[in-house]
Amino acid sequence: MTENYSAINWNAIDDQIDKATWEKLTEQFWLDTRIPLSNDLSDWRTFDEDHQWVVGHVFGGLTLLDTLQSQEGMASLRKDVQTQHETAVLNNIQFMESVHAKSYSSIFSTLNTPEQIDEIFDWSDSEEFLQNKALKIRDIYENEPDPLKKKVASVFLETFLFYSGFYTPLWYLGHNKIPNVAEIIKLILRDESVHGTYIGYKFQIGFNQLSKAKQEDMKNWIYDFLYKLYGNEEKYTHILYDQTGWTEDVLTFIRYNANKALMNLGQDPLFPDTAEDVNPVVMNGISTSTANHDFFSQVGNGYLLGNVESMNDSDYDI
Ligand SMILES: [Fe+2]
Ligand SMILES: [Fe+2]
Repeated sequence: MTENYSAINWNAIDDQIDKATWEKLTEQFWLDTRIPLSNDLSDWRTFDEDHQWVVGHVFGGLTLLDTLQSQEGMASLRKDVQTQHETAVLNNIQFMESVHAKSYSSIFSTLNTPEQIDEIFDWSDSEEFLQNKALKIRDIYENEPDPLKKKVASVFLETFLFYSGFYTPLWYLGHNKIPNVAEIIKLILRDESVHGTYIGYKFQIGFNQLSKAKQEDMKNWIYDFLYKLYGNEEKYTHILYDQTGWTEDVLTFIRYNANKALMNLGQDPLFPDTAEDVNPVVMNGISTSTANHDFFSQVGNGYLLGNVESMNDSDYDI
């Protein structure tokens, strides 16, 4: 006889973090269509060609990565859930990854010309180091049997590998430019902060059940994987940023975020870089987006559904 099929019961919660995360994510739900990106065209027209190129292409890269997260990432993690509520949370995350991917592409689709838009998509579908990172993560999602390693791949993608792209809008946010683009990025950062914390937490539950020896093996795998990803990320960063002179600053920023990804997984930092080493303009941008973000407290920063407004210069008085 086959087992009966069970209806999800939200009055019998196995893991309170599932419920808290569901509530947090649904409370902060948003859609890109509420943000008037075309209001940023006047700023955009003052950028020189090199900087316009960077803005367009970082968002091309981010579109690719969140396409992966929405198409393969959450579907892969969903195979290993421990509770029915975890499935519900991952369903929410998967949909939001589609919103993120659509948002990144709507940024360059608003700012760039039709020819440039085609070029950006061609670039993101073929650029060697961007493709390397997408394929390395996809390989884990598709072929790695260990559920914990799949969670590591997801946390590394969202808390580490996105940040070479996030640097640009945060830099402009710190300089009071393209505020509506920045608004979208702030909403995405707020989502990713919850995603990384939640998936990292689920990783730690499994990790803590491993034997000491298996924990050591896992740690070695994690640091080895991080090194490989960082080596590729350095090359990607040079391709994106050398013409702006921002490369070294971006690398500091991504090492700082690599440490944060390790922290989400309950592991020790790898790089010496701390918040003090990151360009303060960019750090201001990131603190604006997360200042009121307290994961489990229900305190959002006001962007409830129906309540998203375009940004004003005064929003950036820090
Ligand atoms: Fe995302
Ligand atoms: Fe995410």
